[in-house]
This record gives sequence, C-alpha cells and structure tokens, in this order.
Amino acid sequence: MNKEFSAPRGTLDILPKDTPRWQEMEQKARKILNLYGYKEIRTPFYEESDLFARSLGQTSDVVQKQMLYVASLHKEEDLNSRIHLALRPEGTASVVRAYIEHSLHKQELVSKLYYIGPMFRGERPQKGRLRQFHQIGVEAMGPNTSDPYLDAEVITLSLHILNALGPKGFVVKLNSMGSMEDKENLAKCIKEKLRTKQAELCEDCKQRYLRNVFRILDCKNKECQTVVDHLSLDHSFLSPQSQIYFTKVKKALDDLKVNYQVVPKLVRGLDYYTHTVFEITHALLGSQDALGAGGRYNHLVSELGGPQVDAVGFALGLERVLLVLSETIKVALPPLEVFIVAQDQECLERAFTLAYQLRQKGLTCDLNYQLGSLKSQMRLANKSNAQFVLIIGEAERKTDQVALKDMASGQQEQIGLDRILQVLKERL
Ligand code: HAM
Repeated sequence: MNKEFSAPRGTLDILPKDTPRWQEMEQKARKILNLYGYKEIRTPFYEESDLFARSLGQTSDVVQKQMLYVASLHKEEDLNSRIHLALRPEGTASVVRAYIEHSLHKQELVSKLYYIGPMFRGERPQKGRLRQFHQIGVEAMGPNTSDPYLDAEVITLSLHILNALGPKGFVVKLNSMGSMEDKENLAKCIKEKLRTKQAELCEDCKQRYLRNVFRILDCKNKECQTVVDHLSLDHSFLSPQSQIYFTKVKKALDDLKVNYQVVPKLVRGLDYYTHTVFEITHALLGSQDALGAGGRYNHLVSELGGPQVDAVGFALGLERVLLVLSETIKVALPPLEVFIVAQDQECLERAFTLAYQLRQKGLTCDLNYQLGSLKSQMRLANKSNAQFVLIIGEAERKTDQVALKDMASGQQEQIGLDRILQVLKERL
C-alpha cells in the first residue's frame, strides 16, 4: 500500500484560501513598521546551534528541550571538529549575529530592523503552540540607545501592529528586571523565598532552582504554579537608577494613554533580557496566552563578541493572532479581471495568445484548457468570479472578434480583437 504523507505534526499548510489573510497581515505590519523607521532584515532559517545556546541561555527551555537540529557537519578548516546547525527558534539571536558580522553599528547610530518569517521549536504541539510558527519581530539596537522612550516606542509599535491586525481585548503586562546586577539580586531574592519550598517543585524546577531560578516562574506544572502563586515579589531589588528607568518607561506609556499592568513575576523565558520586559496576552488563547512579547537586552551584542550595544525588541506570533481573530473576518481573494472561454481547439489557440497579451499589459486573466460545451465553459467562467468573460467561438474567430460579457450586468457585445485591450482598460 502506498504511504500517504501529511504535514509534519506541529506544522500547518497555509492554503490559497487563507494566504490573502496572511498577505494582508504582512502588508499592514510592513506599512506600520515603515512609519517607525524599521527596515527589513532577512537572516538564514538555520544557524550554528551554539548561537542560540549562548543567546537564549543554556538553561532556557527552548535550548534544553526545543531545538530542532538540522545537521552536524565537518568544519572545512578542521575536519576533526564538527559544526552543529539548528533551525532558528526565534529571530533575535540571528539579527544580533548579523548586526555584529556586518558591523552595522559603524554604519548607523541606531539600527531599526524587522523580520517576518517562520521560527521552529520542537515543542509538544497544542492550541497556539506549533513546531513551525511565524513571527513579526523588531530589534532596535545601537551604542548608547538605552532610553526609556525607545522601550515605550517599541511597546507602542507592537500595539499599533496588533490593533491594525484586528484582535481586541489583549492585555499588556510590563515589568523591569533591572540591570545585570539587579537581576542577580532578584535571583537571590527568589531563591531565598523558595528555599523551603524546593520539595514541592517538579523535578525540572528542582534543577532550575540550582541553575536558573527565573525559569521556575514560567513552569506550567500545577504544583510549581501553586508555589509561584504564593510567592510575593516587588521592585525593591532594583537599583535607584533602574527604578528611575522603569518609572520613565511607565510615564512615557502613561503619556500615550497605553493601558498596562505591572506584573513583578514577569521574567520571560529567554535569558538575555535586562530592564524592561513585556508580554501581550489574550484570555482566548488558554495556557499559551502570549500574542507577543519582548524587552530590552543590553548585553547580548557584547556577549556574542560585538561592541557594547544596547538593544530592545519584540516578536508577535501570527498564528496566535489569527486564533483570536474572529472567524467571520474573511479577506476576499483578489478578483480576477478576465476569463476567456474558447469553443474549440482553434479558438483555444487564439484564447491562449490573447491571455498572454492581456497579462503582459497588466490584466489578471485566466482560461480553461479543457474544452467542453459552451454551457460548461460558462459555468467555469461564473465560478472564476471574473469581472469580464471573453468568449471566442467559431463566428468570433472568423471575424477577428470576441464576445465581451460584463458579468455584473450580464450585457454582452461583440468587440474587434484589436480594440479589446482598450475597451477592457476603460471598463475595469
Ligand atoms: P517569545 O516569547 O519566545 O520571544 O516568542 C514571541 C511570540 O512568538 C510569543 O508571544 C508567541 O506569540 C509566539 N510563539 C512562540 N513560540 C510559539 C510556538 N511554539 N507556537 C506558536 N507561537 C509561538 C521571542 O521569540 C523573542 N525573540 C522576542 C524578542 C525580540 N525579544 C526581544 N526581541
């Protein structure tokens, strides 16, 4: 028996009936990104796996459990060592790698970069959680660009895009993790508070307690969540400078009347963040409730071997945006302008040439290659939703004419072949 193939678990085919919706989302986002001065960057879909381990953190769930390795190849310069490649689980690490590799910091004061494309994580698939999903992401980076206004701008940009895409009812959760030093203090503080609770944690979190205590805060295990629910955190671990920074971010958002909730337990699942972190959640999404997320990461560029450069960014998950959008919002397929119907083989020859000529002149045009009765051909023409149908029967072919049918009014008239382009252009 022949094996039937299906899309790999956790991936989705986006069929032609759905692509207009995707294209519309992308076009709207690009327009808005342009308003804020962002330029598109396209990086490879795979990178050295070490890049992700060093960026997202060796102890992050993404690196520990979700990396999709694609190959392990011999290094050209040293055949004894191997290079491990993995599909990109997110965009930030790749953008930072490209920023350093091409010395973008020498070319502009601040690089405002955006990307739209697939990301890959080997997670257990469930509602809103895929192994291949799509993000629209931005990264704004440059030396001495750590400014609360830029953080606020990035947050408002993410909301501007989301509002344009359509979902309503999302919530912005905001927090500050402070500087590297503050983060260490926060880790110590959480460790201290959880010291007597270790036995109640899952096996993973017992390890996390030793290696990266922040990750306990986003554990999905029920017992761990109960422990975390009872944990009380505030911002006393922040240095006075970090407090001021965070206050300025909030003030900038208040000035723009952006609604947000300060959530001291929001620490994000990736290790590179410092200072501002945020998540945009939606109740309809269930346990995978983040439509998007981001924050500041002032040390990643230097940690990956680049200069001291500050950076902030976010990424929105497009499948999740579509999940919360009401199914009633349908985007119509772009209409077909002309459909050509040919009565027999000789007429088809003429139809084929005419279709080529009309397309060369910029008209959307289609025709059917399977000849049949005129009635069945007209049924297909109707189904095509074309604005105009051109009928070439024996009589038309002999007189160098076509019958032009306006599908909205039902009116039909004979037009000379030499005038058809001009007539169509006038009426379309
Ligand atoms: P993240 O929180 O890992 O952050 O992902 C951002 C968004 O991508 C999530 O809020 C969610 O909407 C979507 N997403 C993540 N994983 C999945 C999945 N398995 N299935 C479907 N959607 C998913 C980042 O990726 C950071 N790089 C964001 C960032 C940019 N921070 C600074 N700059």
